[in-house]
Amino acid sequence: MVRHGVKKGDRVVIYMPMIPQTVYCMLACARIGAIHSLIFGGFASKELSVRIDHAKPKLIVTASFGVEPKRKVEYISLLEGALARVQSKPDKVLIYKRPNLGHVPLAPGRDLDWEEELAKAQCYKCVSVPSDHPLYILYTSGTTGLPKGVVRPTGGYAVMLNWTMSAVYGLKPGEVWWAASDLGWVVGHSYICYGPLLHGNTTVLYEGKPVGTPDAGAYFRVLAEHEVAAFFTSPSAIRAIRQQDPEAALGKQYSLKRFRTLFVAGEHCDVDTLEWSKKVFKVPVLDHWWQTESGSAITASCVGLGNSTTPPPGQAGKPVPGYNVMILDENKEPVKEKTLGNIVVKLPLPPGAFSGLWENQEAFQKLYFRKFPGYYDTMDAGYMDEDGYLYVLSRADDVINVAGHRISAGAIEECVLFHPAVADCAVVGQEDPLKGHVPFALCVLREDIKTEEEKILEEIVEQVRSNIGPVAAFQKGVFVKQLPKTRSGKIPRSALSAVVSGKPYKVTPTIEDASVFKHIEEVLKKNQMG
Ligand code: COA
Ligand code: AMP
Repeated sequence: MVRHGVKKGDRVVIYMPMIPQTVYCMLACARIGAIHSLIFGGFASKELSVRIDHAKPKLIVTASFGVEPKRKVEYISLLEGALARVQSKPDKVLIYKRPNLGHVPLAPGRDLDWEEELAKAQCYKCVSVPSDHPLYILYTSGTTGLPKGVVRPTGGYAVMLNWTMSAVYGLKPGEVWWAASDLGWVVGHSYICYGPLLHGNTTVLYEGKPVGTPDAGAYFRVLAEHEVAAFFTSPSAIRAIRQQDPEAALGKQYSLKRFRTLFVAGEHCDVDTLEWSKKVFKVPVLDHWWQTESGSAITASCVGLGNSTTPPPGQAGKPVPGYNVMILDENKEPVKEKTLGNIVVKLPLPPGAFSGLWENQEAFQKLYFRKFPGYYDTMDAGYMDEDGYLYVLSRADDVINVAGHRISAGAIEECVLFHPAVADCAVVGQEDPLKGHVPFALCVLREDIKTEEEKILEEIVEQVRSNIGPVAAFQKGVFVKQLPKTRSGKIPRSALSAVVSGKPYKVTPTIEDASVFKHIEEVLKKNQMG
């Protein structure tokens, strides 16, 4: 990197699968003060191009292929698709060719071969940076279709992560830890890469799924083979195992002798999934709540600080030291215990939390700190009980949590509206037994359209897949005559989400034409959905 002119403060985009080389790149950037921006492999070319254009990297590092259960992920062609769209082209693209997965030609003058570069590389000393120097930018979904580049300051983050490994996760240096996420998400940054390595824990890097690689016993095998002491996964992953192996018969063949605690996060963990995991893993299962913005847990059962390992079901822990979590109503007043409200954090935020949005400090202030002055707005809704346990119930913005991944409904809507037959569209989360929620589109067609609805839906699905990416898991939608809107033109997302999930819903008086809901119900019934 240094030989190719990457300096302190330059950005490096890393678009790579779950292989050790990805971690090497992150650590190499940290060593020389370059700011990395990892982009999850499940995003398609357009999303990649938006992130490249925004971060303006000097170098992009990628690998020839990723491995998904049913296909190879062609990183190079996805990257070519993105580079064809971007304004700010990187000077160089460094490519790691994965052995035995096929040949990839290099573009002369632009592409660098990983092995050749490594053979010429020299050891380079660490570059000192101020504690608030950005370690990385991590894009996450927000209210608008445009992703937000969360900026992570170096010093406080290192301190916070190191501390959480013992305080939150109860680990001693030397023990083995496994966070079954992807390096492209915040959990991967904090707890596959930096946290365990800072604290002297072995980290497990797993390029696989909970099921299908090859079966529902895979997680148990990895836990046993590597003598993992503590493990972090998402409720969706546990639901996937349970769906395929309800008695965990495959898992039972493994002895998990060093395994002490299972941590879940990323989405609300339903009590049924929680109880099942306790039964099959035979360890305390602790839900904890956090966000890309925080970089580590905001609420948790801190086992290293002696917190209870049998908290009440449905909770996501108590505030972690450093976080003053409160529940406010729309008038910015604290609510009583067990009353639903906006979850906020009284300022200041602790070390390790984000310090801004890349090149967008105005949005940083406006999105997170304006609605509740003096507080950080988490944009989650929930309540606290009399013992201080937090219950996180839903998002207050348009984010849909799909298998623990944060997907913007607004971004999918924008993409659907590109279809020439679609005049209007609302995308909301529909409850899903595996992924928690999946995106569901309600589309209004232009008047003169003769094409069959089924065909249009197929095209829309393909459009979202090739623009946003397969990770959005967008497959479902219906066509309606009209969408319900508030008098100020907003889509009543929570009511629509309830309708498409077949649940009771409330129509607020601000809705212009409440009869639209009945029409949508009829369409859903006709299509046997909802
Ligand atoms: N690179 C490229 N594509 C990816 C990808 C990656 N890193 N990760 C997922 N995808 C693709 C998948 O191949 C799939 O594409 P397909 O439509 O061609 O099959 C699509 O994105 C959806 O993938 P996924 O979310 O894995 O859904 P699934 O139906 O294949 O599997 C689960 C369901 C529940 C097993 C899976 O979602 C899962 O393991 N979830 C847990 C996620 C998690 O741990 N999150 C942690 C957040 S803290
Ligand atoms: P991300 O920034 O991708 O990590 O997503 C953060 C969002 O996921 C939060 O704002 C919540 O909406 C949701 N989330 C994360 N952890 C939990 C949890 N333990 N319980 C409920 N929701 C969660």
